[in-house]
Amino acid sequence: MLTKAVEFIKSRIGDFKPEIGIILGSGLGELADEYCDIAISYSEIPGFEASTVSGHKGRLVFAEINDKKVIMMQGRFHFYEGHSIQKVVLPVKVMKRLGVKTLIVTNAAGGVNAEFKPADLMIITDHINHMGVNPLIGINDDTMGERFPDMSEVYTPRYVNSVAAIGEKLGIKLQKGVYMAFTGPSYETPAEVKMARVLGADAVGMSTVPEAITASWAGMDVIGISCICNSAAGVSTVGLSHADVINAANTAKDKFIKLVKEIIKEI
Ligand code: HPA
Repeated sequence: MLTKAVEFIKSRIGDFKPEIGIILGSGLGELADEYCDIAISYSEIPGFEASTVSGHKGRLVFAEINDKKVIMMQGRFHFYEGHSIQKVVLPVKVMKRLGVKTLIVTNAAGGVNAEFKPADLMIITDHINHMGVNPLIGINDDTMGERFPDMSEVYTPRYVNSVAAIGEKLGIKLQKGVYMAFTGPSYETPAEVKMARVLGADAVGMSTVPEAITASWAGMDVIGISCICNSAAGVSTVGLSHADVINAANTAKDKFIKLVKEIIKEI
């Protein structure tokens, strides 16, 4: 499956060699509309499937941004869509095979930390995998990573620092914190959010952790950024809706894209 996908993509991109991979989360896909040299729909790629979530386009976009060659996922595979966890992380393995060294993974998340406001951006410093699955379960591909990979520094510490410095330089306020992944698709209950806080989470979401585990296993540097789209259940008194999440992502979009472009330039 992996080899077929990689061969197909190579046949389409020729000698384009991406060094940075970016997974664009809900409402943040515009970067791939702005910069698009080559686009391949997921439906064309062996082993990939069309994205089923509104606000996610479903294509790989290859582009040169600030003199760096990047591959962007405009839309990702979520576990809650019914995809196997292996399918969720297939694109990350593809990126590795194409030569990607650094993965920038973004998402929409709910704020657990009471200091966080909707449309804040958070640098992910660590995660808690509460999905009940691990994408590395199964026969280990020793050519990519080891059986029992260390997860002490999934989110490359020197990049956490550089992103914080970039935020300061651009005048974009950045929070820092721990991201806890639930499967979704239902949002968490107030009791679950309380649990998340007690366990040390600052934000909750339904993605990112499988991809980050896989990238770290495969020896890639990882940068994680959450757009805090709402206060998680029980943190504020208002109920949650996907429309509000998309609205907040839209509000944050410009600063988010500005930040990512600068990260691409500086790393
Ligand atoms: N919980 C989980 N995922 C989310 C949330 C949330 O509150 N907001 C955006 N994605």
